[in-house]
Order: sequence, then structure tokens, then C-alpha cells
Amino acid sequence: MNPFVFHSPTKVTFGEGASWTAAEVAKDFGATKTFIVTDAILMKTGILKPIIESFEENSYCLFTDVPSDSDVDTVDKAAAIAREFGANCVLAIGGGSVIDTAKVVNICLSLGGPLLDYQGLNNLSDRLGPLICIPTTAGTGSEVSMVAMVKNHKEGKKLLFGSRFLAPDAAILDPTLLLSLPPKLTAATGLDAITHGIESFSAVISSSPFTDAMCMEALKMLFENLPRATANGADMEARSATLIASAMAGVAFTNSGVGIVHALAHATGATFGTHHGLANSILLPHCMNFNMDSIANRYALISRYLNFSSSTNDNDAAAALIKAVSDISAQVGLPTRLRDCGIPVLDKRQLDELAFLASTDPAIMFNPKESSAQDIIGIYERAY
Ligand SMILES: NC(=O)c1ccc[n+]([C@@H]2O[C@H](COP(=O)([O-])OP(=O)(O)OC[C@H]3O[C@@H](n4cnc5c(N)ncnc54)[C@H](O)[C@@H]3O)[C@@H](O)[C@H]2O)c1
Ligand SMILES: [Fe+2]
Repeated sequence: MNPFVFHSPTKVTFGEGASWTAAEVAKDFGATKTFIVTDAILMKTGILKPIIESFEENSYCLFTDVPSDSDVDTVDKAAAIAREFGANCVLAIGGGSVIDTAKVVNICLSLGGPLLDYQGLNNLSDRLGPLICIPTTAGTGSEVSMVAMVKNHKEGKKLLFGSRFLAPDAAILDPTLLLSLPPKLTAATGLDAITHGIESFSAVISSSPFTDAMCMEALKMLFENLPRATANGADMEARSATLIASAMAGVAFTNSGVGIVHALAHATGATFGTHHGLANSILLPHCMNFNMDSIANRYALISRYLNFSSSTNDNDAAAALIKAVSDISAQVGLPTRLRDCGIPVLDKRQLDELAFLASTDPAIMFNPKESSAQDIIGIYERAY
């Protein structure tokens, strides 16, 4: 068996209305001045009101300007406001864009210095101040992960920050906050979580029995509940299951890494602004087909556990999993081709650029099969 290290330092609390205890959780970490990071769309929904009202006057400062494809300029702006306020705790309430922004703001607030010095893996020298995350989407797992990604528009690239010090101190999973999430976003974020489960389980060098168990159970919960949560956003059981499963897949992938799907999705997102979960959803079956000859035995294990196949032939069972992945994307109403999601053409220059970005993305290190630029271009062409 491979040697491994498994970290899961985030305290996870789950419950309907659990987010209303945010101020108490912050106090437990010694916070007297909490910097709350969220976005304008969430503010409009009204779901944040009881969370914000749990804080005493003057004990918090609210930043609501996180765009959906957050960037280093937003981080710099937010960090300056947080510093001016004298924040000693950061609370993120939102999807992956808000949580990742808050994580990087926390680096600036705690360690100072130019933000770009900290990008990459393991470049944080010390612990950060307390960070509490309340996800309002069920997909990224960022509320428990040791990574954050924000865009650098100047370079047209997503920057990765990865360190064990980036794992949030607490994650509060409150399914009531997801009731306002529209079906398309429910579907796309859910497919992000499914991709985490499949890629983490496939990362043969860095996965472990701990991450495998998290992946299997998370995938089971997602395949059973994502269609329900998408069809009926008020189905609290389905919302709860997808939210918990997304955090479980997050714990798994942050320990094992992801793979080629994420590498290609990051490149697609950086180039065309495609939503992360949607890009993953389109690329996932094509990348699984590419990986088949290296990893059919692992796909087959998932397939049998989820009852997609009872075949003892690994290739047949693995093919059933790939079909189930395509089927669930179609069932929840997501487009299945890149051309159907705002990418009008994909010419040779763009394909070369995408292949360069994907092949230099840190996620690709964990893929079970090596890929050349030509392999990556082939996957993009088939997904287009
Ligand atoms: N750090 C990690 O571990 C990790 C992992 C995967 C993805 N990501 C990053 O996460 C980002 C994507 O996050 P996401 O998929 O959660 O989407 P998102 O955060 O970009 O949100 C998408 C949209 O949904 C809206 N929204 C969120 N919650 C809502 C709710 N409850 N009701 C109504 N609207 C709501 C937001 O306002 C936004 O407009 C990408 O930047 C990606 O790179 C990070
Ligand atoms: Fe992801």
C-alpha cells in the first residue's frame, strides 16, 4: 500500500439553521472583529440576514463585492478594508468564489506582503487567523479544502494557493441556505462534487483508504440526491445530502488531489469564464474515456458499489460508470458540449493555448495517466 498523510482539520457542523450560530462560532475562536465576505446576489436573496444579525453591532464588517469569477484585484480591495477595520477573523458565506476569495484575503490579513508571493503549493510560512466558511452551493468543497483559486486577469490565468494552513477552522453546513440556488447552478455545482469524488478515487498514487471511503459514500449520496435537489429545490433531505456529500468529497480531494478533468476545466474557466462545475461536467466523461486503459479497475469498483453494473469485467463495469456520469448530467439539464456553453469557436491557436494551460495546471500531476499536448487537444475536440 502507498504511504500517505491524511489531514482533516476543519470542524464541520451540520444542521438546518446551523448558520445562525456563526457569531458564537467566531467568539469561540476569540474573534472580536469579524470580516464577513459574501456577494451581492446572496445579499439580495435575504438568506444572510439571520447570520449577519447574529453579530453584535460594530463586531463585524461586511464585504459584498465578490464577483462570480473572483480575482486578485477583489482580494486586494477586500484585504485593505479588512485591515482598516482591524479584523481578527474572516467569515465566508457563499459559493466557491466567495470562499476562495475569503481564504486569500485571510492570507493577506494574517501574513501581509505581496499576495503573489504566496501562490503555488506550500508557500505559507505560518498559521493564519481564524477562518469560518458557510457554503451556499454544494459542489466545491472549498469549506474544508486546503486550496483556493482566484483569477489573475492580467495573465488570463487562475492562480492556485495550496497549503495545510488554508484549511478553514470551521465549516457550517446549513441546507436552508441552498433553497434559493437555481436548478442550473444546483446541477453544475453537484457535478463538480461528483468530479471530485471520481478524480480523488482515481488519484492512485496519493489516494488512501481514508479518501476512498469518503469518495464512495459521497458519490452514492450525490447520484441518489442530485436529480432530486435539481428537480425540487425545496427538497431539504436532498439538499442536505448533496451539501454533506460535497464536503466529504472535498475532504477526499484536498488530501489526494484531483486530475485531468480539473486541469482542463481550470484552463477552460480561465480562457472563457465557463462555470467550474459546468466545465467539469462536460469534460468528465471524455477524460474518463481517456483514462480508461490506466484506471478501469478503480472505475469498476465505484460502478459496482453504486449498482451501475454487476459485471466482473472491469472494462464493462467502468463503461457503465462513464454512461451513468453522462446520464446524470443530461438528467439534471446540463449541456453536454463545450460549443453549447458560450464558446463559439475553438480554433488551433485557442486549442494550443488551452493545452498549454491544462498541461501546466498543478491538478494534472495527480492524474493516473500521463497526457501529451496532443492528447489534451483531442479531449477538447471531442468535448467541443
Ligand atoms: N478551493 C477549492 O477547493 C475549490 C474547489 C472547486 C472549485 N473551486 C472554485 O469555486 C468557484 C466556483 O464556485 P461555485 O461553483 O460554488 O460557484 P460560485 O461561487 O461562482 O457561484 C455561482 C453563482 O451562484 C450564486 N449563488 C451561490 N449560492 C447561491 C444561493 N444559495 N442562492 C442563489 N444564488 C447563489 C452566486 O451569487 C454566483 O452568482 C470557482 O472559482 C472554482 O475555481 C474551489
Ligand atoms: Fe472542482
